[in-house]
Amino acid sequence: MLLDLFHLLTTPVPWSHRRRGYLRESVLLLSRSRRCRAAWTPHLAQARAVITQACEGLARRRTVVVLGSGLLDDVPLDCLAARFADVRLVDAVHPWPTRWMVRTKSNVTLVTADLTGPGAVLVHAAGPEVDLVISANLLSQLPILPVDEAGATEPSLGRDIVRRHLDELTRLSARVCLVTDVEQIEEDRDGRVTDRLDLLHGVLLPVPDRIWTWDLAPFGESARHRRLIHRVHGYADWHAAVPRAGGGP
Ligand SMILES: C[S@@+](CC[C@H](N)C(=O)[O-])C[C@H]1O[C@@H](n2cnc3c(N)ncnc32)[C@H](O)[C@@H]1O
Repeated sequence: MLLDLFHLLTTPVPWSHRRRGYLRESVLLLSRSRRCRAAWTPHLAQARAVITQACEGLARRRTVVVLGSGLLDDVPLDCLAARFADVRLVDAVHPWPTRWMVRTKSNVTLVTADLTGPGAVLVHAAGPEVDLVISANLLSQLPILPVDEAGATEPSLGRDIVRRHLDELTRLSARVCLVTDVEQIEEDRDGRVTDRLDLLHGVLLPVPDRIWTWDLAPFGESARHRRLIHRVHGYADWHAAVPRAGGGP
């Protein structure tokens, strides 16, 4: 609790991001990721493996852009920093553990930006020197705060934000790696499914290279007798996946 307060008070972040709740969300994620470290390990390993796979076979390795870098838990930073001339980490909030991790890496840059709006991906990830763009467990997070803020006034907002992020990734000329959770499943202690939530607001994705589950909130984390599991899709090469027939989230 005290640690959360420290992060809330001292993390460098633009006032608008603080006001809109991005810092609060980042601090909650930080503390949950530390509490659930063991449960999250298999998911993080899968995500890192997809990202490592995405680095293979590139003709050049000049700049890599990571969208939604956050805590870098699912991003193999050492691997990226060793292989690429420049590593650009883009997120609404760069928490202290990330700032600490990159402090000795002269080829890593932190970019603070809101990636929700039209053109945001293109502004930060397009460019002739960019050889790889990674969207790292960001997609399902993008609509959360805007949809909360809009309430019932804009029913298609979540879908529009998800669709726009995917469209902008598709327009990039660099190789694109996408890791995203697509569905939340709530289970009781008997393994019965008690709720399901489509995290992508009805947007269907193509068949992924890898699919796995993320034990997001084990029993006792958000409720004593309920746990939350997320289904995650990994695409090492999004451009190659787009023409594949869609499977729903
Ligand atoms: C589930 S976390 C994944 C973070 C990271 N890949 C990791 O390993 O910790 C989602 C990230 O998306 C970021 N995010 C959410 N909405 C955003 C927005 N509109 N613009 C930029 N970043 C955003 C959050 O700050 C958070 O770091």
